[in-house]
Amino acid sequence: MSDDLPLYKSSLKRSRRNKRFIIAFTLLGVGFIFYLNARLNVTSTETDDDRLSNNNIYHSPTQSPNYKHNTNPPELTLIDIDVPTPTNDNRVSPFLQPSTPSDSHEPMTPLPEKEIISATRHYSLLVIITSGASASSMERRRLIRESYFGLRDNLLPCMVYNTNVYYKFLIHGDPPHADTPLRRRYEAEKMEWNDIVEMGKSTRPLEQVNILQWVETSLPAQGVTYDYLILQDINTFIQLDVIKQELDSGIIGNHTHTPFVINTDAPTSFVWGNFGAGATDMDIVVAGSSAVKRALQLVQEMETTIYNKHEPILTKMYNYYQVNMDLLEDDGHSQQQNSPEFIREDGPEGMQRFIRWENNVESVHSEDIAVTRIYQNQEFTELVYWTRLNPVSVCYHRRRGNQEDMNLPADVGSRDDYDEVMEVLVEEHHPVKEQQRIEDGLAVVTSSFIYDACMEPSATRAAMNKRNYALKHGYAFVARSAEFAQEAARRQRKTVWGKVDVVEKVLPKYDWVFWMDMDAVVMDQDRALEDILYQVKQLYPHGADVFDEQVDFVVSRPSRDPMINAGVFLIKNTPWSMAFLREIQKTTAWYHRGPSYEQGAMWEVMRRLENQDKVFLLDRDDHTFNTFPSFYQPGDFVVHFAPDKCPNDATMKGLDAADKILGVVW
Ligand SMILES: *[C@@H]1O[C@H](CO)[C@@H](O)[C@H](O)[C@H]1NC(C)=O
Repeated sequence: MSDDLPLYKSSLKRSRRNKRFIIAFTLLGVGFIFYLNARLNVTSTETDDDRLSNNNIYHSPTQSPNYKHNTNPPELTLIDIDVPTPTNDNRVSPFLQPSTPSDSHEPMTPLPEKEIISATRHYSLLVIITSGASASSMERRRLIRESYFGLRDNLLPCMVYNTNVYYKFLIHGDPPHADTPLRRRYEAEKMEWNDIVEMGKSTRPLEQVNILQWVETSLPAQGVTYDYLILQDINTFIQLDVIKQELDSGIIGNHTHTPFVINTDAPTSFVWGNFGAGATDMDIVVAGSSAVKRALQLVQEMETTIYNKHEPILTKMYNYYQVNMDLLEDDGHSQQQNSPEFIREDGPEGMQRFIRWENNVESVHSEDIAVTRIYQNQEFTELVYWTRLNPVSVCYHRRRGNQEDMNLPADVGSRDDYDEVMEVLVEEHHPVKEQQRIEDGLAVVTSSFIYDACMEPSATRAAMNKRNYALKHGYAFVARSAEFAQEAARRQRKTVWGKVDVVEKVLPKYDWVFWMDMDAVVMDQDRALEDILYQVKQLYPHGADVFDEQVDFVVSRPSRDPMINAGVFLIKNTPWSMAFLREIQKTTAWYHRGPSYEQGAMWEVMRRLENQDKVFLLDRDDHTFNTFPSFYQPGDFVVHFAPDKCPNDATMKGLDAADKILGVVW
């Protein structure tokens, strides 16, 4: 029986927190020494051959028959170029040296090799992908998350991007029409990924200038700053891993005839892209943050001298400096210092590494690191395989359960080392009283499946209420729609049974899951789940110790209700819980038996003699964590708007009230 169950995390108790701190900092120190060592070794001993085999842009001729006939020799050999060899100090990647003064941020945490877990919100790389709201761009966003960032699902969500890479999708145009299946899937995507920014209703694609303005105003307002911006539209494929590697190494196009060495005095003052007459707002561009700032300054200054209004702003800046170069040279330092450098890919003297999609992958060569105008998702996928794209991580987290899920950088050392590092970071941001802290994961889990027009307007806002709560306390927030969609497609039982599927899928990855229905709202955002558990233990008639030993499922039965309300409950990751969920899954009598369905099944299974010890029923309890609106008293934790009719309006009012409690004004 127990062989059928998923893997469980070990219940090994951790040592005390202070000790962990010391160990963690020691590890950081050791890691840093290793890191420096590694850098020195790279500098002194690594040969070109090593680089060839380490660097996936150089495919060996047998692996890849794709070489350009005209511009490059049939075998991509390294051309001997006279690159000034930077000193050891300068070799430290610009990714380790934020352009902003380092004391304005917490120190980054260098790990062996080039992977970084960062506790700051300063990112070396900011990847912005513009997109519409069509079904096909929704699928493309999924492909991009997976292929660029290794984000395959949200079971272990990326709550805070903690590497040196940050990304967002910027959506232009209207969202999909209201009250359509597409709109509901789109809302689910927003709830599940939280990586979509809606830029307003204009149906025209976003202009470069507007995006740069957003990057320089909205992101800093959220505390996010960056060194290098990569801007691409949804139909562009880039070898993000290679671009990152080149920026990282401080030399762009090292294997080309005219490599560009990033100036260590002004590392973020360059723009890399197409600047010719054909350049459009849809072209990919890589820009350092000072160059972006300079371009935005020029928007004002250039107003009268704009030759072509439809040029992207960075192309305008290029032309401006082309025309004014002589003037500026006479003018002395002040202007010249502001002038960014340009790495040109198009035009006669360009490197031509940003290309347009022709027709087949064979026309894409290993040095073509950006391919625009790929309108078919199938071809995007082919390019991912063709170029052997390696995901660039935006998130490292502790992975539980399935070992294959582990996504640690290769050189972090053991998983425990990694845990220690992460714990320091998490604790700095989310201090919880020591005796209360749950050592490993706690997840707030909800449904992002919108059945029909009813909850469409309030669903995403209700999810944000829960996400913000989870973020504030350092919990995971997991919103799921796939399991409900699966039930709807299978048509074996009522779709709401997807809830049991979700909990069964998510629970093995955490210690505790706090399930909340979509129409349940956190009213008291300050209240930690640890605190709720503490309170529940005090209520438990056999005492807290017995609770810790045997109780795995906590649910309440509101006064006057005939059975539990399964809209909110706590469940602990134990073999019993997994068996309990399996038993519920098999309770066929409730598959179609309304109005309770899966809730009726839970009620039935939990009351079986063999299960009673494992369950704490908060009987006639209207206040601990599941309060109906009519019972609400100030200070109650969660209000559950579950009227017989559509709960949308009630939920909206509840969210307004929750925001008022928080002091947010809409
Ligand atoms: C650039 O190429 C030269 C010559 O092949 C090589 O020695 C050097 O290590 C390369 N630098 C980087 C940062 O890849």
